[in-house]
Amino acid sequence: MSTPDELRELVESYLAELALTPELKGLEESMRDALAGGGKRVRPVLCLATAEAAGAEAEAALPAAAALELVHNFSLVHDDLPALDDDSERRGKRFFEDVVDFSDLKHGACAACHSGPMLNETNQFAELVFGVPKGTRFQSIGISEVNSGQNLVRVFLFKSHDGTTTPVASPDPGRALITGVAPQDDPTVENVNAFKTPTLWGASRTAPYFHDNSAKTLEDVAAHYNLFFGITSDPDGPGGPIPPLLSLTPGDQADIVSYLKLLK
Ligand code: HEC
Repeated sequence: MSTPDELRELVESYLAELALTPELKGLEESMRDALAGGGKRVRPVLCLATAEAAGAEAEAALPAAAALELVHNFSLVHDDLPALDDDSERRGKRFFEDVVDFSDLKHGACAACHSGPMLNETNQFAELVFGVPKGTRFQSIGISEVNSGQNLVRVFLFKSHDGTTTPVASPDPGRALITGVAPQDDPTVENVNAFKTPTLWGASRTAPYFHDNSAKTLEDVAAHYNLFFGITSDPDGPGGPIPPLLSLTPGDQADIVSYLKLLK
């Protein structure tokens, strides 16, 4: 029986002399470079040791051992190539994980309202931070406030529980038209300018988006959320301006779109 180091030596010299296909031309050097990284050569050594254990000469198994190592190297290199790696989708998925992560608010940012099997209800993060009961299905995400669809703005009068009347200027006050609940009586923004949270399954096939169709593409949706997370801060807060909850970089927005497209 050979020692692992002896088997590794066999592998190293076999790989060093292995002829690569001439089709590679200038690429041969890069391939040899990736292969010569060394490493433990665990796979080919195991292959040779298995051959010996079964009664064969280690040398007889060298082509198989080298093939294993080549495929392994191929997978390592290709996993890092942007065209083959699903890194964008993986980064995008973090926004939808049903977690409470105060060290990174992007982690689960979308899941706060898009949780549950249909991705259309609030989760425990929304309950802890915004006092919205878990499972809430109506929220405002600033669509009427921003009014990027440039719809006609009208003034709606809401009567509060204390008898006062509050005017709300909006293209569409949403759920409040049905419940009649005024802004002062609605600490959890589930009424005025609030709309039903839609499922995200199949969203890539259902453009345009939002109740007023103001987002033509998923890219527009992601750009709107960057704005929304920015305006939830209070510039005139008692302790000075509150910084935006979070901002979505162009990279974040692209990752979110990649992930949304997976929700078939
Ligand atoms: C505060 C709750 C809340 C958060 C957080 C939230 N959403 Fe939404 N989402 C909604 C509501 C409510 C609507 C419907 C708005 C409307 O129609 O005016 C909506 C609509 C959408 C739509 C449109 C679907 C359609 O069919 O029109 C997409 C896509 C979407 N959200 C994706 C996201 C992404 C991506 C994130 C994270 C960046 C996110 N949402 C975070 C509540 C939320």
